[in-house]
Amino acid sequence: MRENPLVLHVLGARPNFVKAAPVVRALGELGVRQGIIHTGQHYDALMSDVFFADLGLPEPVANLGVGSGTHAKQTAALLVGLEEVVQEQEPDLVVVYGDVNSTLAAILVCAKLGVKTAHVEAGLRSFDRGMPEEVNRVVTDALADVLFATSPEALSYLASEGVPASKVHLVGNPMIDSLYAALPSLDPAPVVERLGLPERYAVATLHRPANVDTVEAAKELVDAVLDVSRQIPLVVPVHPRGKARLAAAGLDGPSVKVVDPLGYVDFLSLVRGAALVITDSGGVQEETTVLGVPCLTVRPNTERPITITHGTNRLVTPALLPAAAEKALADGASTPAGELPVLWDGQAGPRVAKVISAWLKGDNLAPASQGKRPE
Ligand code: UD1
Ligand code: UDP
Repeated sequence: MRENPLVLHVLGARPNFVKAAPVVRALGELGVRQGIIHTGQHYDALMSDVFFADLGLPEPVANLGVGSGTHAKQTAALLVGLEEVVQEQEPDLVVVYGDVNSTLAAILVCAKLGVKTAHVEAGLRSFDRGMPEEVNRVVTDALADVLFATSPEALSYLASEGVPASKVHLVGNPMIDSLYAALPSLDPAPVVERLGLPERYAVATLHRPANVDTVEAAKELVDAVLDVSRQIPLVVPVHPRGKARLAAAGLDGPSVKVVDPLGYVDFLSLVRGAALVITDSGGVQEETTVLGVPCLTVRPNTERPITITHGTNRLVTPALLPAAAEKALADGASTPAGELPVLWDGQAGPRVAKVISAWLKGDNLAPASQGKRPE
């Protein structure tokens, strides 16, 4: 490894910023030279800038400005932009996060350029290849040199896909590090007042393509959400993806407040004070688990089953959502295991940083990338 090696983090979408912040902070504390490449997959101030401010992330060294498009167009722009910047910056290691298109593109570019990579949040599987994220997860984990898992089931999934155990590190969940770091600032009262909400309310976030990309799915979902709003007032910080279609499906009403996406601290403050959360977000399933807020996930599956076994999460169909909401509001949060997932303790970032820093010093943590067969 050369003197003063360089680590680059490739970030593009809202959840990436939340997962990267603790890793960037911990590497900084170890004195590692690093920089952020922002791909520009998310670009609205409320989908990007506000997270850099709330999470204390440093300014990116480059913003590729790829923006939106079909999967092919967006991924192609990401590949071209990332190849250029990786060649220019000559990193010793590129760190990618989660399952978004920016992650997929970065891992492909680095694999072809022979640049080493680490994947944070490796090994999550919904086993639903109809989700673009699942495709991104499988490809990313097949190509990454070092894999950081957030929950134990990831280890067996990665093993069954032929990933050598020596490449995989169970480190806990950096998204939960960010949550713990923000916890002292999470106060529902000012947000509730600003949005004109009553004391008891529910929060809904919905952006999965399967829920919002067709008129039929959006209508079925909106009808179910309106039904819930007759039980409890709802606030919906609406992701830009579904905004127009959810509005066209009639997401409005005396007890439904549709607002722009919220900043990280405002959103989690609102979640902390909520009686119920309805979501299809990956990260929100994890955050409600730690905050002990009942969560109904409107999806047929989850890549985060630990939020069901060790958390407050339940999967529901739109048809079952109103009855499930009634039950959740009556029962409150219940967690089957009675304890949080292992290592969701706010120390995942430092664990990741420790492994990366040892790797940069030459510890042989990624033998398979040097051409060995999986053991
Ligand atoms: C992406 C991720 C998804 C993740 C989500 C987090 C992929 C394949 N999907 O989905 O896994 O859960 O981010 O929020 O990478 N748009 C704006 N402003 C923005 C960003 C997006 O208006 O700043 C709108 C555009 O109309 C765009 C649409 O949202 O076409 C979708 O954006 P995109 O980044 O392609 O996918 P997401 O649905 O955000
Ligand atoms: N989030 C936010 N404001 C919002 C909605 C979500 O700050 O209006 C945060 C949320 O707390 C979590 C992250 O965004 O930390 C999750 O992102 P998203 O739901 O967009 O993506 P996913 O996790 O589904 O990939």
